[in-house]
Amino acid sequence: MWSELRELQDGQDLGTPPRDGVEVTLSIDGVQVSVPSGSSVMLAAAMAGRSVPKLCATDTLEPFGSCRVCLVEVEGRKGYPASCTTLVEDGMAVRTDSEKLRSLRKGVLELYLSDFPSEDIVGGWSEFHETLKQCGVDSHPYQTGANHLASPVDTSNPYFLFDPAKCIVCSRCVRACEEIQGTFALTIDGRSFESRVVAGQDQPFFESECVSCGACVLACPSQALVEKSLFEEEYRHG
Ligand code: SF4
Ligand code: FES
Repeated sequence: MWSELRELQDGQDLGTPPRDGVEVTLSIDGVQVSVPSGSSVMLAAAMAGRSVPKLCATDTLEPFGSCRVCLVEVEGRKGYPASCTTLVEDGMAVRTDSEKLRSLRKGVLELYLSDFPSEDIVGGWSEFHETLKQCGVDSHPYQTGANHLASPVDTSNPYFLFDPAKCIVCSRCVRACEEIQGTFALTIDGRSFESRVVAGQDQPFFESECVSCGACVLACPSQALVEKSLFEEEYRHG
């Protein structure tokens, strides 16, 4: 459903915007692919028919590299770079799937789930849920700890609402507001666990500079920002 809401062509979001450079040829899971220089490894993977899991990347926004779900292995390089922010190089050999990569992605997604409404984990429809499915994650092993689950829902805007309990702080809304609308109404305030989306000077959305363009709602992968019209009755979890 999220892909229909975003009106994606063939339901596919390639993860990072297209580039215009000279052709560079690399191998993705053994498949040779040529893409313009300046492209991300994520885009090259999509061109090679591989769908690398992602959360903070989307092809309408510049890559940001915050969620660490899109990790890959690059031959001859240490570590696990984010494919959305790693640029292609001629002759590069990339692996998008391995036991280690699956375990790293699972660990990241479980952490997200530990601070996400449990009643919305199974059966939810959003890009976040698609990524969970893609990675085979539907639970987490953590005890209830500090969380954002009781944060009040901001219903001030007539068209959409913001439920901080479902926010995975991917910054897509902030970047959409900035890059697509040029309004700069949203920011991420605080660090690590304290990070949260703030409208204006920490105001309700409708009292901030937000012009209700909806770019943030379209960009949000987790239904934290969601159109009110999708809920016939009163909005609630589950
Ligand atoms: S509201 Fe949505 S788009 Fe914005 S940071 Fe939270 S999850 Fe990401
Ligand atoms: S999709 Fe690449 S770091 Fe989030």
